[in-house]
Amino acid sequence: MSITFDLPPAARPGLPADAIDTPSLVVDLDAFARNVDRMQAAADAAGVKLRPHAKAHKCPDVSLAQIARGAVGICCQKVSEAVPFVRAGIRDIHISNEIAGPAKAALLAELARHARMSVCVDDVAQIDALAAALSAAGTTLDVFVEIDVGQGRCGVPDAAAALKLVDAIAKHPGLTLRGLQAYHGSIQHLRGWAERRDGAARAADRTGNVIARLEAAGVRCDVVTGGGSGSVEFDLTSGVYTEIQPGSYVFMDADYGSNAYTGSLRFEHSLFIATAVMSVAAGDRVIVDAGLKSMAVDSGLPWIWADGAPSAALDYVSANDEHGIVKPRQADARQALPPLGSRMMLVPGHCDPTLNLYDEIVGIRKGVVGSVWPISARGLSR
Ligand SMILES: Cc1ncc(COP(=O)(O)O)c(C=O)c1O
Repeated sequence: MSITFDLPPAARPGLPADAIDTPSLVVDLDAFARNVDRMQAAADAAGVKLRPHAKAHKCPDVSLAQIARGAVGICCQKVSEAVPFVRAGIRDIHISNEIAGPAKAALLAELARHARMSVCVDDVAQIDALAAALSAAGTTLDVFVEIDVGQGRCGVPDAAAALKLVDAIAKHPGLTLRGLQAYHGSIQHLRGWAERRDGAARAADRTGNVIARLEAAGVRCDVVTGGGSGSVEFDLTSGVYTEIQPGSYVFMDADYGSNAYTGSLRFEHSLFIATAVMSVAAGDRVIVDAGLKSMAVDSGLPWIWADGAPSAALDYVSANDEHGIVKPRQADARQALPPLGSRMMLVPGHCDPTLNLYDEIVGIRKGVVGSVWPISARGLSR
């Protein structure tokens, strides 16, 4: 005899926020909308296109909200990640990354039937592999030459190497050079505002030099794409980028919240993990039900969020697989500990890998569940 039993959903629209089962990933829909608006308004004011990164959330509903507000398309970091976004009707997707292996090239060539797709290259062999997949599928693709502007990850080191790739791209009728990608990840989380400004200026300088050398050789870069949530306020006025690709700004995790922002472009924490106190037996600490399987801690432990700010009284001090340990900041302040069954909101340290742990984002507005968005690209990292 088979037993069928469906897991009840963690939340349904209309449910009071306090009734959401824990741990759950929750977004404050009003703060989220303000973040979406602010970034779009800043890009519009600078005359720069906004192509938000979907690796931060993997959720088509988030991308559709950004596109409805004016984003020109999205970035994905992986080819498989793009599939649910194409299915959701998004028709302009840049894979802001190099790809390896014929299976990915074939999938990309297939996706190009349904959407305008682009991808990064930094080697002639990648160009040849893409061309072979495109001619088998009978589709076409835009390509970006990625340049390393200081991060020390992917990308060619200089204009001479970029020009070799431009020549290789021109040999294949299925490929069109769209421009350059110049992304500098390691400046995004420099804590000081001036440090980030100077790092972004150096990256823009290196990018500008490559553009000038390419132009001198008769190669025009229609699109120069790059920038993340920590550098966009500088990238927008650099005169170099025609397009920015920030992702985390919609949520602002604790790591981004630890940057200093002295400029006018600021974003709000909108993403939280709803967790509940499951044990108070020890007296000097409480245990919550969100641990390592509910959050990524590569960028630090979560903040406890209380009355619109990080708690001054309580710290989330350690994460086990299924348990989180919360202690009062002052060892003798036991009265600050919440009672059994009470709920807490945590701001995760790093949003991208945290979202990859959940099936859905529960949207709340004024204390009530307003939406449940599937994280359809969860786990799609091929
Ligand atoms: C190529 C690229 N573009 C944009 C981003 C977006 O960055 P963030 O989510 O920090 O805004 C990333 C993040 O790692 C990235 O790798």
